[in-house]
Amino acid sequence: MTDQSHRGAVTAKNWIALLAIIVVASAIGIAFMLTLNWFPAQASDAAPKIDTFWDVLIVVSVPIFVAVTAMMLFSIWRWRQRPGEEDLDGPPIHGSTKLEVIWTIIPTIIIAALTTYAAILLVDIQSAPAKGTRVVNVNGVQFAWGFETQTPSGPVKTSKLYLPLNEPVKFNVRSKDVIHDFWVPAFRLKVDAVPGITTTYNLTPTKLGTFDVVCAELCGLGHAYMRQTVTVLTAERYAAVMAGLAHASGAAMPAAGAATDAVGKQMFVAGNPATGATACGACHAMKAAGTTAATGPNLDEMLKADDAAGIMEMIVDPNKEIVEGYSKGIMPANYSASMTKTQLAALVKYIDQSVHGKG
Ligand code: CUA
Repeated sequence: MTDQSHRGAVTAKNWIALLAIIVVASAIGIAFMLTLNWFPAQASDAAPKIDTFWDVLIVVSVPIFVAVTAMMLFSIWRWRQRPGEEDLDGPPIHGSTKLEVIWTIIPTIIIAALTTYAAILLVDIQSAPAKGTRVVNVNGVQFAWGFETQTPSGPVKTSKLYLPLNEPVKFNVRSKDVIHDFWVPAFRLKVDAVPGITTTYNLTPTKLGTFDVVCAELCGLGHAYMRQTVTVLTAERYAAVMAGLAHASGAAMPAAGAATDAVGKQMFVAGNPATGATACGACHAMKAAGTTAATGPNLDEMLKADDAAGIMEMIVDPNKEIVEGYSKGIMPANYSASMTKTQLAALVKYIDQSVHGKG
């Protein structure tokens, strides 16, 4: 028989060396991991608490990783196959109940403690916000987020999210088609948008600026493009912006004919800043609206012979026919997306009436 003395019990010296390696490597590992910049700016009240939880996870999990790796490498080195041992069967081993009890109980305690911490943290950051919390409806659809905010003049729909600083907000998250996930990394919170149910979370923005809104659930081909922004503003700026958006998006718009004319004119002279729809009057002259810009053709002349359907086509598909002396691709081609059907219809009606002296 080949000498197998080197397969003997692990000595006290071995254990001390192993322990020393684990302690030193863990300390280095923890220090390194804690210096890494894992997350974007902290922009909500929940962010610092979640980042602290992350640090705790690092402190707990790095030593486990180091200990397991160290034991594995030691075993590989210590009980490796030596020359001449190719045909040897290893010595028989028996299970150890004591060892199995220990390696079941310790992880159970660690996981239970971390789970308890996480549960308490979640309850804490989602505890009922103060009365008068602003509610924002978040609607996921392939492949964009839509936001609906209540304002004194009615609900305002936007494709960018606006929030006031230091005021609690509750998100009601819904989906029109598949499962999306409403995530603002700077806020650290996310929740699935599930068709048929409303999911929620609340937070208080604590930092001025513009942050990414992303979809964190693979939802189809355009998933990666489902990225928008949230802008956190001071209370005064927020009130001003929302009032402007409410006005521009026709939030208070009744369906009656007279109001439709007002919306049509509004779209013509001001566009829809909420969605980035440029005002027609910014580039086109039209007598009834009092606009004189000459970037694009004069509408009174250009549309003389066009009916409502023709005007609509020129708005939603501006590159189909180009007036002589003007270039393709100058007029935005996104009006069918940046204006609602109601706004477009009102705009067409307004232009039709204006250039034909009706109304
Ligand atoms: Cu919506 Cu991914």
